Amino acid sequence: MGDDSTRIDFKDRMLSLGLARVSEAAAIASARLIGRGDEKAADQAAVDAMRKQLNMLDIAGTIVIGEGERDEAPMLYIGEEVGTGEGDEVDIALDPLEGTTLTAKAMPNALAVIAMGPRGSMLHAPDVYMDKLAIGPGYPEGVVSLEADPADNVKELAKARGCPMSEITTCVLERPRHEELVEKLRSTGAAIKLITDGDVAAVIHTAAADFTGIDMYLGSGGAPEGVLAAAALKCMGGQIQGRLVFRNDDERGRAKKAGISDLNKIYTLHEMVNADVIFAATGVTDGSIVRGARRVGDYLETETILMRSKTGSVRRLIYRQKTD
Ligand code: FBP
Repeated sequence: MGDDSTRIDFKDRMLSLGLARVSEAAAIASARLIGRGDEKAADQAAVDAMRKQLNMLDIAGTIVIGEGERDEAPMLYIGEEVGTGEGDEVDIALDPLEGTTLTAKAMPNALAVIAMGPRGSMLHAPDVYMDKLAIGPGYPEGVVSLEADPADNVKELAKARGCPMSEITTCVLERPRHEELVEKLRSTGAAIKLITDGDVAAVIHTAAADFTGIDMYLGSGGAPEGVLAAAALKCMGGQIQGRLVFRNDDERGRAKKAGISDLNKIYTLHEMVNADVIFAATGVTDGSIVRGARRVGDYLETETILMRSKTGSVRRLIYRQKTD
C-alpha cells in the first residue's frame, strides 16, 4: 500500500460532525463509570453508546479495527457492518474506550476514539502487539527508524531538533518488557515519561510536542491502537512506524487471517493509513490534548478533537448534555 490519498473519495466533510457525535456518546457513557474500579462496565458502556450512534450515520461502514474477532466481541467486532447502509462505503477503526484501566482508576488520558476512511484505507491489523516509534511533524522523513537502536534515535532526533539529547523527552509504556528499552534511553540522558496505559494518546502527544513536551513515543502496545494512532498523525502530521509482534502461532494465524503475509514488515504511517481519513477523540478523563468529561451545573460537558487529513483541519468541540 503506498500513499494514494486522492485515490478514493468519501463525504468526509459531511461525515465528520457525525463522527464527533459517535465519540462524544462513548465518552459520556463511560464517564459515568470513572473511578468505579470496573473496567469491563466502563468499556461496555462505551461500546453500547458508540455502536448506537454509529448505526445512525448514513454510511455503509465496516469495522476493520474494533473490539476483537467476532467470536470474542459481540459488538463492534472486526467485520461488523455499521451505519444505515445508505451512503459511502467506509472502513472504521475504533476504540470506544482507550484506557479502560485509566478510566476505572480515574487516571488521565482515557479517550473515546474513532477514525473513518474510504474502503481499504486502513491496515487490518490483528489484535497482537506492535512495536511503535512515533515523532511529531517538522522532521525529515526517516530521521528515526524502528530498525535503529533507541539511543541512536534519540541522537538523530536531537540533531534534527538542534538540541542536546538531554532536552529530548521520550514516552514509554511502563512494562517489564520495556526494561531494556528504558535502559538504552536512559544512557542518552533523555527524559522518559513512563505511562501506565494509553498509547494512542501518547502518540498524539508527539504531534503537539510544544504543548505536551513529548518528542518521541517508543515501545510495544496494541496493534489496533497503532493504526488508530497512525490515523491521528495522518491528520496532524508526524511519523509513525510499526512492526507486528507475534508471541505464538495463534497470533501468527490472526495475521494470516487478516491477509498479512510478511510478518516482519515495518509499516510506515502511509502503509497503515493509505487514504484521507477523519478522526475524532473525546476525552473521558482529563488529558493533555482534550479535557475529560465533567459535570458543569446541570450538564455533562465533553471536549472532542475532530480532524480531517484532507485539509489538515482541526476542530475542538465542546458538547453539553443535560444530565438526568
Ligand atoms: P485498553 O484500553 O484496552 O485497556 O488498552 C490500554 C493500553 O494501554 C493501550 O493504550 C496499549 O496499546 C495497550 O493497552 C498495551 O497493552 P498491555 O497492557 O498488554 O501492555
